[in-house]
Amino acid sequence: MRKKVTVVGAGKVGATVAMRIAEKELADVVLIDVLEGVPAGKALDLAEAAPIEAHDSIITGVTNDYSAAKDSDIVIVTAGIPRKPGMSRDDLLTTNAGIVGSVVKEISAAAPDTILLIVSNPLDAMCHVALDTSGFDKKKVIGMAGVLDSARFRAFIAMELNVSVENTHAFVLGAHGDTMVPLPRYSSVAGIPITELMSAERIEAIVERTRKGGGEIVSLLKTGSAYYAPASATTEMAEAILKDKKKILPCVTYLQGEYGINNLFIGVPVKLGSAGIEEIIEIKLKEEENEALQRSAKAVQGLVEDLKRLG
Ligand code: NAI
Ligand code: 2OP
Repeated sequence: MRKKVTVVGAGKVGATVAMRIAEKELADVVLIDVLEGVPAGKALDLAEAAPIEAHDSIITGVTNDYSAAKDSDIVIVTAGIPRKPGMSRDDLLTTNAGIVGSVVKEISAAAPDTILLIVSNPLDAMCHVALDTSGFDKKKVIGMAGVLDSARFRAFIAMELNVSVENTHAFVLGAHGDTMVPLPRYSSVAGIPITELMSAERIEAIVERTRKGGGEIVSLLKTGSAYYAPASATTEMAEAILKDKKKILPCVTYLQGEYGINNLFIGVPVKLGSAGIEEIIEIKLKEEENEALQRSAKAVQGLVEDLKRLG
């Protein structure tokens, strides 16, 4: 049977994810948005590119019709507002919580067996909204952040050392925000730890650029945030699930005691397969790395408490 992915939010990230999934023939794609005509228009435009791109994925777009999400293997939630210059991801909290809550309510009625892949910001807090609203098993509510942040780290390593991006490997844990935890010790080029290849000062500069990677793009674009790399990261996660690849990726997942963190969504390495999060991988952290992860968890906890307080 053909796989099916619904993407809610036919904006920059959503439409680009739809394009990548269709072009890789991972699944048929349904785009849903509140805007009249936009999801149908983008879907038709993508369908008209299919003969040239040489794929047979079927792409459709609807406005507010959640029955179209029925039987989706994955629903990707990108609905919400993006950042503008001067805004942090956390400034989006209440607006996007309302949007993500209403979208997930519709999705859990239309596609109760699906896997939710959350992209809307502030990411870690939006995963809480999605889990609470859907009542899904925690393995089936997954946030996209670490794959993007690690890809940025990898790109900067490749630029610094003038090597192929394909040779790079990197891990970024923690929240999707300024407290994220890039791990140089677990980052390498062709298996060689970057700590052997670069000075501590250059590593620190790259780590800092990674932490601020989203903001760097917002300040250049001025009218919104990044979407090409976020769409690629989301597609890699969707592919791991659709093809049951059992791929180890840093994803935002609900921790219940792992890493000493309880009842909180945060980014750690997981095994992604057809069941969603099939295993949470606990890597050994040094004291300072663990302290940074705990600080990051505290920042997410603060947002979750704000969400409760604001209703
Ligand atoms: P965008 O503004 O281009 O698209 C958002 C879309 O959501 C719009 O088409 C809008 O009409 C739609 N929308 C709003 N309310 C809706 C509702 N109730 N139901 C259905 N659709 C609705 O924004 P963009 O750039 O695509 O970003 C989307 C979200 O993803 C933002 O919150 C952004 O911060 C977040 N993001 C997260 C990343 C991550 O690493 N987790 C990376 C990049 C973006
Ligand atoms: C990013 O990191 C905005 O969260 C988004 O680009």
